[in-house]
Amino acid sequence: MQSKHNNYNTALDTIGNTPIIKLQNIVPPNHANVYAKLESYNPTGSKKDRMALAMIEGAEERGELSNGMTVVEYTGGSTGSALAFVCAVKGYKFHVISSDAFGREKLDTMRALGAKLEVIKSQDGKITPDLINQMIQRASEIARKPDTFFTNQLSNPDIIRGFEKMGHEIIEQIAEPIDGFCDSIGTAGSLMGVSRSLKTAGQDTLVIALEPSTSPILTRGTTGGHNIEGVGLGFIPELLDNKYYDHARTVDENEARQTARKLAREEGIFVGTSSGMNIAGAIKLAKDLGPDKTVVAIACDTGLKYLSEGLFS
Ligand SMILES: Cc1ncc(COP(=O)(O)O)c(C=O)c1O
Repeated sequence: MQSKHNNYNTALDTIGNTPIIKLQNIVPPNHANVYAKLESYNPTGSKKDRMALAMIEGAEERGELSNGMTVVEYTGGSTGSALAFVCAVKGYKFHVISSDAFGREKLDTMRALGAKLEVIKSQDGKITPDLINQMIQRASEIARKPDTFFTNQLSNPDIIRGFEKMGHEIIEQIAEPIDGFCDSIGTAGSLMGVSRSLKTAGQDTLVIALEPSTSPILTRGTTGGHNIEGVGLGFIPELLDNKYYDHARTVDENEARQTARKLAREEGIFVGTSSGMNIAGAIKLAKDLGPDKTVVAIACDTGLKYLSEGLFS
């Protein structure tokens, strides 16, 4: 873990090197050990800081993005906050498309970090395939303007590179073999990045992709609405590669929410709904694998982003 007294050149240098914590109280007996990688320690409070930096620096290295240009993206708010942060440090303008289906804290964070924000109205506050498609279309329209760079997170392989570093950190932080890893998927960037690092390091890990039970595109081929921000987009993401996961499982949204509340109250780990989903999936996997094994999951972001939507009410 970084010391408080570290001296950095820019705020970008504070991305990554997040702590990992072994759960002590909410994993029942006769289960594998479960570790949560606490991504809330990143500067905007989410794992997305890693992929935002990777997308911007990847584009700069290839000469696709330079001074004076505007970065464009559609986002539920976590990627938007992370991109707004990276653009603020590097001096790029950032035009972002989001929706009122996502947490007010995330929309306010993007504005606070200087983004130009366009909010698309949702139906009853639900995240649906139709809403995601509207956001994609609007972002693609803006991206056709001159001097813009569309980070296009759903198709951008730079994000996998950004998340490979998270996998390397996990391997360094845990002395024993990692027997199981599970992750809920939006773009699938973090699942792919961590899985690639585990495989490259020669770990024999069972890797599970998680999706909301009301939008089971991978397990049943059907989609629907839910309120787990950032995941279950209603289509199979382009970056998801079958080679890098063993199978998919669903997690019920109520269980994800209940697990987020238990993490806060019984472990002091204050995280959002998709983190609750990941840890709920990890506890099931820990039951399957049994004692003396090790399971890792990502606690994607901070619970502070979910106060207004009522996760902890
Ligand atoms: C809060 C949250 N959790 C999980 C995810 C899913 O991560 P990934 O896009 O790497 O699959 C996202 C992505 O937007 C997110 O915002």
